[in-house]
Amino acid sequence: MTALKLEPCTLALFGALGDLALRKLFPALYQLDCAGLLHENTRILALARDDGEPQRHLTTIARALCLHVPPAEQDTARLERFMARLSYLRMDFLDAEAYPALAEQVDGHTPLIAYFATPAAVYGGICANLAAVGLAERTRVVLEKPIGHDLASSRAVNDAVAQVFPENRVYRIDHYLGKETVQNLIALRFANSLFETQWNQNHISHVEITVAEKVGIEGRWGYFDQAGQLRDMIQNHLLQLLCLIAMDPPSDLSADSIRDEKVKVLKALQPISAEQLGQRLVRGQYVAGVCDGKPVPGYLEEENSNTRSDTETFVALRVDIGNWRWAGVPFYLRTGKRMPQKLSQIVIHFKAPPHYIFAPEQRQLIGNKLVIRLQPDEGISLQVLTKDQGLDKGMQLRSGPLQLSFSDTYRSERIPDAYERLLLEVMRGNQNLFVRKDEIEHAWQWCDQLIAGWQRLGEAPKPYTAGSWGPMAAVALITRDGRNWYGDL
Ligand code: BG6
Repeated sequence: MTALKLEPCTLALFGALGDLALRKLFPALYQLDCAGLLHENTRILALARDDGEPQRHLTTIARALCLHVPPAEQDTARLERFMARLSYLRMDFLDAEAYPALAEQVDGHTPLIAYFATPAAVYGGICANLAAVGLAERTRVVLEKPIGHDLASSRAVNDAVAQVFPENRVYRIDHYLGKETVQNLIALRFANSLFETQWNQNHISHVEITVAEKVGIEGRWGYFDQAGQLRDMIQNHLLQLLCLIAMDPPSDLSADSIRDEKVKVLKALQPISAEQLGQRLVRGQYVAGVCDGKPVPGYLEEENSNTRSDTETFVALRVDIGNWRWAGVPFYLRTGKRMPQKLSQIVIHFKAPPHYIFAPEQRQLIGNKLVIRLQPDEGISLQVLTKDQGLDKGMQLRSGPLQLSFSDTYRSERIPDAYERLLLEVMRGNQNLFVRKDEIEHAWQWCDQLIAGWQRLGEAPKPYTAGSWGPMAAVALITRDGRNWYGDL
């Protein structure tokens, strides 16, 4: 991406004392400031409903920085410089009367970035209130996920926002798109001619996408239980990864060229019929187990839980894409809470050679695979077969990786957090890494039919022990097709 000149702006952060803002957004802004990527006149308005002395709330934010910025990256002088950009304003976001005070604080000459780190139900109200005090004109709005819980509710939110803001000023966050290694998928696929000729059903047998988390619900039971893993992770992060792997080459790097190609993939996702559902989709829910050597409670025993929920904390599914490039190439997706490790990984399995000339017993050696590790240990490895060395070995093959580890290669560079990149791109007015309205809606449409299908079946999620790789049925889902989850694990 070309370096652009920094412009000053006012960033109004709605929900500034919430978990996301304290854990992710302020630390990301602080890091941008330290990297010299915030214009000296950029101001940050921390907006929340909490009463009391503004100074007390600013102290909460400063404390959060000390907690969430790695100690080696904290610096008192920089912290003070950053805090000097901030002011706190108490406001009820749905109260139109609160907005003139906000307007007074906004510099009328620079763009306003309104970041909504609040429930989506208030997005429309905030937009209307911003417009009523004349703040809509030069404003970009940033919408956090989840935007709705199905197609109809996401449309309602998007339509309310669209009443005030045209699509080219709406930035919908999927923080996976801001991850350095996710952006690398674009570079890997489209800067190298090597892969593109192989990137289709002639050469690829199947694709796996795993996003495993070690954490459980972490005090978010109320939200999570309404959502479940399919809405929380598949509808957005995993489908975005799938799109970046499956899309055709865009004609350029502009936001709309990339998003047009992603939409084509989403439109080509094959529905899973009620008859196929039992074979192609597995829902799981963790029960008590051991993670990192410590006993952990089951989902139904988490803080604030009820004991009868059948919300899934794990999903594995087989997805088929109906187009020329991917016909007959299944994409196996799986994601879950309380897995043995935090791991986001994509594995592209290439087909075996059409004619095999080596000893038959060597056929089972691991063949060509491209493993893209998104987190942790970010890197890429290409599994290849070579001849084993030694006079006594004949034409004995061995399987080994050609490795590119990002941390070894770029040892001195810290990998920026996704939110640093995303905030920077909003300030630059670049929508590349944000999700367009039609992308979200196609993704919901496809997920809605899955949810409706399993609701009709009425089956409870399958239990799996916390600290395991999910229910056995998830293994059966892929072995049924004669395959295994890579390296499992
Ligand atoms: C969020 C989900 O979008 O992504 C969380 O709501 C999940 O449930 C998180 O834990 C995972 O993000 P990351 O960056 O830690 O992989």
